[in-house]
Amino acid sequence: MAKPPFYITTAISYTNGAPHLGHAYEGILTDAMARFKRLDGHDVHFLTGTDEHGEKVMKTAEENGITPLDFATQNANGFIEMTKMLGMSNDDFIRTTEDRHYKSAQAIWKKLKDKGDIYLGKYEGWYSVREEGYFTEDELTDGEDGEKLSPNGTPVKWVEEESYFFKLSEYTDKLIAYYEAHPEFMQPESRRNEIMSFVKQEGGLRDLSVSRHKDRLSWGIPVPDDTDHVMYVWLDALTNYITAIGYPDEDGEQFKKYWGDNEDVFHVIGKDITRFHCIYWPAFLMAADIKLPKTVFAHGFINVQGEKMSKSIGNVLSPSAMVETYGLDQIRYFLMREISHGNDGNFSHETAVERMNADLANGIGNLAQRTLSMIYKNCDGAIPDHGEFTEADCGLMNEAYALRDQMNVHVKKFHIHRALEDVIKVITAADGYIDAAAPWKLKKEDPERMKTVLYTLAEAIRCIAIALKFVTPTGADKILDQLEIDKDERLFSHANDKYKLKPGTAIEKPEGVFPRLELEEAA
Ligand code: MSP
Repeated sequence: MAKPPFYITTAISYTNGAPHLGHAYEGILTDAMARFKRLDGHDVHFLTGTDEHGEKVMKTAEENGITPLDFATQNANGFIEMTKMLGMSNDDFIRTTEDRHYKSAQAIWKKLKDKGDIYLGKYEGWYSVREEGYFTEDELTDGEDGEKLSPNGTPVKWVEEESYFFKLSEYTDKLIAYYEAHPEFMQPESRRNEIMSFVKQEGGLRDLSVSRHKDRLSWGIPVPDDTDHVMYVWLDALTNYITAIGYPDEDGEQFKKYWGDNEDVFHVIGKDITRFHCIYWPAFLMAADIKLPKTVFAHGFINVQGEKMSKSIGNVLSPSAMVETYGLDQIRYFLMREISHGNDGNFSHETAVERMNADLANGIGNLAQRTLSMIYKNCDGAIPDHGEFTEADCGLMNEAYALRDQMNVHVKKFHIHRALEDVIKVITAADGYIDAAAPWKLKKEDPERMKTVLYTLAEAIRCIAIALKFVTPTGADKILDQLEIDKDERLFSHANDKYKLKPGTAIEKPEGVFPRLELEEAA
């Protein structure tokens, strides 16, 4: 029976610059989740895209002497390129400058307005252009030269203007009740606690300014029925998640399948934008009578050589340079293996090379190459027949067959690194098995037993390769190609099928899949 749909999204990236390793990390993490769910038999819809309006894009475009749309398009193309380069399996890429999005954002605005949740007032307060967010006086800190900074360290300025407001204050209690009834809504726990205490602050939430006067900001989606204003970029941006599946057509097939009737809508974001996703977004949805997503998962930040990526330090890493230096599977694997559940992570050349070599080149790469070469040379170039299995044979194969269920437990809790640890354990067990069984000795002593040992190893490798497909799709598929596994027999359900390898299947001369990296290759 087909498993229920799964709708998964990344945050949409600002188009005021090129993608960096942080964007790549989020893309790979979300892609790994999407692939895992597909391998597990779900009908997955995976969305990513770009957030193109707002003051930042408008200003940088002006500085560059081009129109905001041309500037946004240049950078959006960089992000589209990145999805391809990283092997992301997204089903859609949304740009907030598309017609479908204008229609959707204006429709949600109208719904909120008709309900009486949007009113015209006057905004006075501190605003960060970099974060496109508002802050209260007591949240600010002083920078080195006395400049006022947001809690995330970006400069803020005092803004006074006529603005539309969303009655966020009326949602304080509803949000708290929702969070309490749905502990899975905000993950991980540390972020949930932060949001809870913010919403529970004395006096509750304050109404939110949701428009800009066009004299100050013209680069945005016009407010319906009032062309003096454009919509606040976060109301515009958050709506992308429903635009892409057909909003405002709530009765449409896609909308019903992936949102209305779907229990598993999952947003992956960075920890800096939890407030927008865990407070504003659910409040907008409640106001628009639209169901809320099941989970917002906030991952940590990736630093480089121990420091936050920044242009001034000069440590901003480009995803394309990383793929070129280490290889795509290698960089995907490293990021997924090294950065644990919701925590910040660090990228350093030394740890990356060490990890890639230990787990990929010396781990699964070496295991597959050794086993397949022995089969190719000693079994007439075909998967050998096996005799009766010993306890050790069954032990190894059963560990490999059990991988799917074990990994599922971890991935359900978004512990991808733990799922990978499980795979590594089976690779280590296979290495131990090969050393103990010593098939190279059996070649002369007991050729029949050698065949059973090699069959056992090949069967374990088949399951390991399927288990790795969500993180290292290219290398895993190469191993499965070398084992002559049909393309449509590479799901977790097939990895669970016992003794799937067919004796007598001819294999090609094996080639190494994960080459060893030299430490000095990139410094
Ligand atoms: N446009 C908003 C998101 C709108 S979603 C409706 C935005 N864009 S962003 O380009 O600044 O960031 C895109 C995503 O990348 C965010 O989830 C952000 O947290 C993430 N990251 C940006 N820098 C990062 C790191 N250094 N490390 C990990 N993720 C980082 O925010």
